[in-house]
Amino acid sequence: TWDDSPVPDVQSTPQDSAFIRATRGLPVPHTPVWYMRQAGRSLPEYRALRAGVGMLESCMTPDVVVEITMQPVRRYGVDAAIFFSDIVLPLKAVGVDLDIKPGVGPVVASPVRTLEDVAAIPDLTPEHVPFITESVQRLVAELGGTPLIGFAGAPFTVASYLVEGGPSKEHARTKAMMFGAPEVWDALMSKIAGIAAAYLSVQVSAGASAVQLFDSWAGACTPEDYATYVQPYSARVLSAAGELGVPRIHFGVNTGSLLPLMAEAGADVVGVDWRTPLGTAIPAVGDRAVQGNLDPTLVFAPTSVMTSRAAAIVEAGRAARGHVFNLGHGVIPDTDPGQLEELTRFVQSIPVS
Ligand code: CP3
Repeated sequence: TWDDSPVPDVQSTPQDSAFIRATRGLPVPHTPVWYMRQAGRSLPEYRALRAGVGMLESCMTPDVVVEITMQPVRRYGVDAAIFFSDIVLPLKAVGVDLDIKPGVGPVVASPVRTLEDVAAIPDLTPEHVPFITESVQRLVAELGGTPLIGFAGAPFTVASYLVEGGPSKEHARTKAMMFGAPEVWDALMSKIAGIAAAYLSVQVSAGASAVQLFDSWAGACTPEDYATYVQPYSARVLSAAGELGVPRIHFGVNTGSLLPLMAEAGADVVGVDWRTPLGTAIPAVGDRAVQGNLDPTLVFAPTSVMTSRAAAIVEAGRAARGHVFNLGHGVIPDTDPGQLEELTRFVQSIPVS
């Protein structure tokens, strides 16, 4: 890189951290690493804490949120924490009747199908989520120099849960609304964009150092449809987040053909799943940092196989404006935490060239 200012080797503040520096394309002491879904079912200490406590209830209890968010930071020594919550939590907070069912995911009692259904969803204000503000503030104090990543679900992915009423493979009803009822689609996507922007603002105001917009299921759309029906709404969220002054990560799955559009939506860092090699993704996202993208199943391979694949990804990442190492999607629940510990140490120990 062109910047020759001194590289801090002690993470004294989140702003000096390898993670934040990489998102901004500044020189780093090592390639920073964290994992999507790092706080979760692969950790025995997580399962112990969650025993008998519902997912939504956990997300609304600051003691639980703080402890679960800290668990992977302590165990793996990752370069960033991700706030323990869920993409549907802000909907629950404004009053949408939904639950997160173990092994299933978010389930919505009355799917959203009409303009009236959309109008019945309130906008989000900080008063809806005092427990989020408290959890973030306490976490930031406890994390010290380790940055906290706040997050929200992107409009398309959240719309899919609201319209389908639960998890879906094809997103058929969602796309039927998108193609066939553009007024309802616009109202719904605008509503969710406003909620996501307000939710991110609460997290950053309370001290989060970066945000990630999860559009996990955007890869279901063709590039043309993404550009017409999805990108404008994600761009609103990312533009609002940009006003907050923190780096913005934009991630989806199966998005090989969407990467330039997801970058243009207003990302500082584009998350790449494992199907697209970084060598292909980097020129596609323009002058931006990338995040990713080890196949999450590689942690089930022998350690030496996993680390040699990780080394190749770190090497490929050097061509980007900045690179944050991650898996290509979330940690698989029966992942051996020992492997993630090895992987973290390995990536952090690769010398910068
Ligand atoms: O990354 C982290 O460690 C932070 C926590 C986090 C969760 N969900 C916790 C969770 C984050 C960032 C999310 C985001 C999320 N939620 C996404 C986008 C990321 C992705 O994986 O693509 C999506 C699509 C959801 C919706 C959702 N919520 C799903 C698909 C599931 C899993 C269903 C299952 O059990 O297989 C959930 C539930 C959920 N979110 C759990 C956790 C720890 C499991 C809760 C439980 O089983 O009780």
